[in-house]
Amino acid sequence: MENSLFNIEEFDIKLDTEEIGRQFVYVQQVDSTNSMLLNSKEFNKNGTVLLAEEQTSGRGRKGREWISQPGQNLTFSILLRKVDGKKVNIVNLGSSLAVAQAIENLYQLKTSLKWPNDILIEGKKVAGILLESSSKGNELDRVVIGIGINVNQTNFPGKYMLEPTSIRKEFRNRGNRERILSEVLNLFEEIFIKVEENPEEVLEDWKDRCKMIGEKVKVVSDSVTKFGIFDDLDEKGFLILKSNNKIEKIHFGDVSLRQ
Ligand code: BTN
Repeated sequence: MENSLFNIEEFDIKLDTEEIGRQFVYVQQVDSTNSMLLNSKEFNKNGTVLLAEEQTSGRGRKGREWISQPGQNLTFSILLRKVDGKKVNIVNLGSSLAVAQAIENLYQLKTSLKWPNDILIEGKKVAGILLESSSKGNELDRVVIGIGINVNQTNFPGKYMLEPTSIRKEFRNRGNRERILSEVLNLFEEIFIKVEENPEEVLEDWKDRCKMIGEKVKVVSDSVTKFGIFDDLDEKGFLILKSNNKIEKIHFGDVSLRQ
């Protein structure tokens, strides 16, 4: 399979941000870009982006693995130092919005979102996000948004919760990793500003792209399974599940349409 190194210059020309990605770190191999940014003594600047060609222990949500063939895709993390703890879930949802919008802008592929932050094309997963944070006292010290986008990988051996796909598989042509990364970061910065100034709009934009709202769903959180209607998101971005005469807020879990 064709493999070319990431071209930082090409990425940089299209980067149109004030802070996000202005400190850019590119490494060949790391255990996990999230772990490296969360624990780094060296990289402290708000907006630092770390991109790795290969992760040896890439992590997904709920302790799962994130497997990505080296050099084919995008596996990167964004470090934020100024997140209001009350808005961290909206930042999480906003990140998936940035990825979905970037794919649509560049490839005219229709994307949809699955709560909390999977990005799908034709019901298959093209990208996932893992937000992690560390605190100092009561304040969030570091928020790291880890993003994995399947760009040019075409075969996905192994078992997956949700069928994986890539931009190349759906677009039937190679995706440009440099262009995708700059577009995601440009949009991310815009959305992050909106999270601060107008979080309701971010939630509305997210909901517009989610096909499950109003549908019967199954939610698995830890080992508890719940059924109901995915009624709405609350003002913090949590899922509101309606069942019989009960309304519950779901803070984390895997949601699927109920057959
Ligand atoms: C998921 O869908 O479960 C989340 C996947 C997140 C993967 C990315 S790849 C870059 C960053 N580093 C990690 O170890 N994980 C995230």
